Amino acid sequence: MRARAIEVENLTKRFNSGTAAVTAVDHISFSVDRGEIFGILGPNGAGKTTLIKILTTLLKPTSGMARVAGFDLTMERDEVREHIGIVFQEPALDWRLTGRENLDFHARMYGMKRGERNKRIEEVLKLVELEDKADLLVDKYSGGMKRRLELARGFLHHPEILFLDEPTLGLDTHTRRAIWNYIKELRREGVTMVLTTHYMEEADYLCDRVGIMDHGKIIVLDSPRNLKDLIGSDLVSLELSNPDVNIEAFRKLDFVRDIKLYHGYVILKMERAELRIPAIMELAAEEGLEIRAVNLRKPSLEDVFLYFTGRGMGDALST
Ligand SMILES: Nc1ncnc2c1ncn2[C@@H]1O[C@H](COP(=O)(O)OP(=O)(O)OP(=O)(O)O)[C@@H](O)[C@H]1O
Ligand SMILES: [Mg+2]
Repeated sequence: MRARAIEVENLTKRFNSGTAAVTAVDHISFSVDRGEIFGILGPNGAGKTTLIKILTTLLKPTSGMARVAGFDLTMERDEVREHIGIVFQEPALDWRLTGRENLDFHARMYGMKRGERNKRIEEVLKLVELEDKADLLVDKYSGGMKRRLELARGFLHHPEILFLDEPTLGLDTHTRRAIWNYIKELRREGVTMVLTTHYMEEADYLCDRVGIMDHGKIIVLDSPRNLKDLIGSDLVSLELSNPDVNIEAFRKLDFVRDIKLYHGYVILKMERAELRIPAIMELAAEEGLEIRAVNLRKPSLEDVFLYFTGRGMGDALST
């Protein structure tokens, strides 16, 4: 039997603050395999942080159960804590200490012996490229540096499972790329990871499987590839100089699955559109059709979100 890293069954969390009750996590079930990068993608308020807090024993569920690293979340809290690492959405570093002191403090809490501690601290500092800033007060760190130190701290004690809540929120593209690389590096070392994000491209690039979360529920769960396949084919739109043409000519291309005329654009549906453009241009030339512009669109996780919720992630942010 293959051991699962995480098993979640009917997990629910209700907050009763005054008169308003919120079901932040609503009967969620899923499991994560060992070595997998599992993503939870959803807009603000979807319940991602609440779910992470429950799985890392920081919050008690209202009902339901979960096993993390083989241990029961409520009955075996200490064992769960020993096997996991957490990278919080809000940096949880001590600003009055240096980077190295922050790491040392954390390593002591995990009972790491001095020799092992020092060796591992050097290793993780190197991994996140903070060796030359190690002895600077965290107060003097930039946002990106804090985030990297936070990440280093998360995997300092060799956790089996690492939880990352919005690991690249608000970072520039360069730092985000660097963090993506560390995450992939950790994966090669066999660390199981659960990360939340509201960046489509992050979920797409990093995750083996993605659960799309909205209003406390996981509405769909699959690999990014399968999720995008659910939405369908690539779309190529052609802007023609003369829109009053017989678009049926494009039926001669056997890879074209569907043709639509939309606001003067010819929209062609097909698979692997990037390989088809030359054939399309050739046919247009043969038919004497003058093409002004070509646009290729691949389905994205954004489209998946739109498809399942009826609204965009951007719209969802304001609801
Ligand atoms: N301690 C709390 N007390 C009451 N309500 C809470 C509490 N924590 C979270 N909530 C509510 O639960 C819902 C989910 O919040 P959560 O922070 O889990 O969302 P999120 O998906 O992490 O959002 P974001 O993308 O903004 O981080 C929200 O409606 C929030 O207001
Ligand atoms: Mg959150």
